[in-house]
Amino acid sequence: MVDVILGLQWGDEGKGKIVDYFAKNYDVIARFQGGPNAGHTLYVNDKKVVLHQIPSGIFHEDKINLIGNGVVLDPVTLRKECDAVAAMGVDYKKNLYISERTHLILPTHRALDKASELSKGNDKIGSTLKGIGPAYMDKTGRNGLRVGDLLDKNFTTQYIKLRMKHQRLLDNFNFHEDITQWEEEFFDAIEFLRGFKIVNGEYFINDKIAQGMKVLAEGAQGSMLDVDFGTFPFVTSSSTISAGVCSGLGIAPQKIRDVIGITKAYCTRVGSGPFPTELHDATGDFIRNAGNEFGSTTGRPRRCGWIDLVALNFACMINGVTQIVMTKADILDSFEELKVCSEYNVNGEAMKTVPFQMNRVNIEPLYQAFKGWNTDISKASDYNTLPAPMKNYIEFINTYLGVPVKFISNGPGREQIVCI
Ligand code: GDP
Ligand code: IMO
Ligand code: MG
Repeated sequence: MVDVILGLQWGDEGKGKIVDYFAKNYDVIARFQGGPNAGHTLYVNDKKVVLHQIPSGIFHEDKINLIGNGVVLDPVTLRKECDAVAAMGVDYKKNLYISERTHLILPTHRALDKASELSKGNDKIGSTLKGIGPAYMDKTGRNGLRVGDLLDKNFTTQYIKLRMKHQRLLDNFNFHEDITQWEEEFFDAIEFLRGFKIVNGEYFINDKIAQGMKVLAEGAQGSMLDVDFGTFPFVTSSSTISAGVCSGLGIAPQKIRDVIGITKAYCTRVGSGPFPTELHDATGDFIRNAGNEFGSTTGRPRRCGWIDLVALNFACMINGVTQIVMTKADILDSFEELKVCSEYNVNGEAMKTVPFQMNRVNIEPLYQAFKGWNTDISKASDYNTLPAPMKNYIEFINTYLGVPVKFISNGPGREQIVCI
């Protein structure tokens, strides 16, 4: 049996915290896509940790953690992360596994990411520049190197061949960057990776499922950044939605039980691209400061706005969401009034659907106003004690989406969560 936790917005919904919270109910925690563009924040013994590639179950010592084949892996970042978690007492050598089919991010992928962004000028994606797009391009272009290739004696030859291809592309971009140090770090990290538990991920996970173990698949990014269904071209390069779990881990769709979707009580986006409910005013600034909305990976300020139910409804549909976790509800604690986008006005027509190219049409969000709860909820642990205006806000969202909000997260702390 497999449950999935994924983001329903443009990323940073609080997946790290929620996966860490739910991990106790599972045996295996597996990342199925994305790479070091992700930054998943956890608080362990009041210490903040940001994970980029290691699954967020790593702080539970009896759990198996798997980096699935759908991930693109940067060995250098992985090594740094391993050192960081080891310093916190985690024996990652014991319970962290990597699929041999996982594609590698090379130093030249990072250079190509930069070159590609520069070439786009004003149309840039706002990539995290971690080499994600170029690494996935080499996967679908059938050029990439995989973790299993490390064990092949021809690995260095294959690396050099691919590097030469990349160099030609970089020359076309007229982009020059000295990657000598990156390459040194890369080859050091490759040696480190050779000592890992490299497994055939699809047999590994299916064997665990057959033994009756419970798997939690951890998404990265968010549904609106999905390469097919997100706000293309302002998206990432992987399948961030529940369908990505099957191809990113090698499991069949019938094995998936719950799809737990996470949304913030409001909405954020980092990087370029359409964001209909974005607030360019003091309210947006307030949310950014109160919610500490600065990227976990790049430190960039996140764009902030009201919750967008049109986009959320779309995300629930394509993911088959069975329950919702609402995070950062505490950030709205001091508002007298809250807004919820329930429709888009597109060229004078009210719509409840996400248009084909959000960036090419003029979308005016239509809002419904709600009374704010104006109460500190950060210490609440029982739904019955929550203020009535908050329950009203949640119930409206429940009814609109037709999917129950089952948990409300009311602070960054590990146990700050209210079950409904
Ligand atoms: P992820 O990428 O989805 O894991 O999310 P990030 O870690 O990038 O960003 C979420 C941020 O919000 C982190 O700093 C979390 O510690 C924090 N956070 C998560 N849930 C809550 C919550 O309910 N309340 C508050 N105040 N912060 C939260
Ligand atoms: P987590 O898992 C928020 C955004 C980037 C950019 C676009 C493409 O922490 O939620 P990429 O580096 O993939 O080429 O960038 O996607 N992006 C994220 N935004 N959270 C993330 O991950 C993101 N990963 C990528 O800002 O707009
Ligand atoms: Mg994040």
